[in-house]
Amino acid sequence: MSDTQYVWYNGKFIPKSEANTPVTTHALHYGTAVFEGIRAYNTPHGTAVLELEAHVDRFIYSMHALNMKVPFSKAEITQAIIDTIKKNKFDACYIRPLAFYGDVGGVRVLPNDDHPIDLIIFCLPMGRYLDADSVDVMTSQYIRIHPKSSVCDAKISGHYVNSMLASMECKGTHYHEALLLDADGNVAEGAAQNIFIVKDGALITTPLGTILNGITRKLVIKLARDNGITVHERYFKPEDIIHADEAFFTGTAAEITPIRSLDDQHIAGHGEAGPITKTIKELFHHIYSSSERSDSLTYINNTHTLEPNLLG
Ligand SMILES: Cc1ncc(COP(=O)(O)O)c(C=O)c1O
Repeated sequence: MSDTQYVWYNGKFIPKSEANTPVTTHALHYGTAVFEGIRAYNTPHGTAVLELEAHVDRFIYSMHALNMKVPFSKAEITQAIIDTIKKNKFDACYIRPLAFYGDVGGVRVLPNDDHPIDLIIFCLPMGRYLDADSVDVMTSQYIRIHPKSSVCDAKISGHYVNSMLASMECKGTHYHEALLLDADGNVAEGAAQNIFIVKDGALITTPLGTILNGITRKLVIKLARDNGITVHERYFKPEDIIHADEAFFTGTAAEITPIRSLDDQHIAGHGEAGPITKTIKELFHHIYSSSERSDSLTYINNTHTLEPNLLG
C-alpha cells in the first residue's frame, strides 16, 4: 500500500479523491486548523500506535485552544484513528488527524458560535523524516511563535508558517533542519522537533512555555529518568549546544535524530551519535521492537474494541 486510499471525514470513510473542501473554508484562509502527527509501528504483536491517548488528548486540547466545539468524543476520535489505519491496511504508518473551521461561505475572521468544525483523518507511509543519520542544523533568523502571540503549546496549523519559513532557509544548503530561538535568544525547538543536549551525563531540554509540548519529548524524559539518567528542563543558548557532549532532536516524525553540528560547528568534535543519545535511541526502539508489550503502545491488529481505559 503506497498511500492513503480512504479518508475518515466527519465519521465516514470516503475515497481520498472525494475528500475535498470548498475554497471558502475558514481554515484555508486563516490557518484555523489543529492537527496531530502520530505513528503506528509494526511490532511483534502486530500494528500498534505510539502514545495514542496522549495524542488524542493534545488534539482535543488544541481544539479547545481555538475555541472549537469538539465534534466527536475522545473515544470516537481514538477509534476513528485505529479504524483509519485498518481501513487503509497499513502495518506501520504516520497518522494525521486534522480538525478545522469549515465553510460558511463568508470571509469573517471571527467564526460564528455555530461555525462547523470538520474532522478528517488520513494516514500515509513514513520512513525516516530527516534525511541523515545525524543532522546538520542551522539557527533560523525567525524566532519561535511568542507565547504572548498565540497558544504556543497547541498544535495549530497557522503556527507552521513559522516552521515552514525556518525550514525554507535550509533549502538548497547542506543543512537538514532549522533551529528556532525564543525572543530572549534561548533555544526553543526545531522546525518540527524538540531538542535535547547532553552535558556531563545529564540531559537538558527546553522547558515548556515557548515550545510544542512534544509527546516524544515527554516519553524521552520518562525513559531517561527510569534508566537513571538525570534530566533538567531549563533554558540554554545555541553556544551550549556547540559545547555540549551530545545533542538530538525528538519528534513523532523525527523520532530520535542525533544532531551533528549547529551552524557548521561540530558538537563535541564527534560526527555521529554519542553514548547517551545511543542509549535513548535504543530505549525508544525497544518500545516497538521488543516482544514485551509496552504501556506506550495501543495494539490494534487483533482487537476491534479498545482497552477500557481509552474509552473514557
Ligand atoms: C514544532 C514542533 N515541536 C516539537 C514536535 C515534536 O512533538 P511530538 O513529539 O509530539 O511529535 C513537533 C512535531 O510534531 C513539532 O511540530
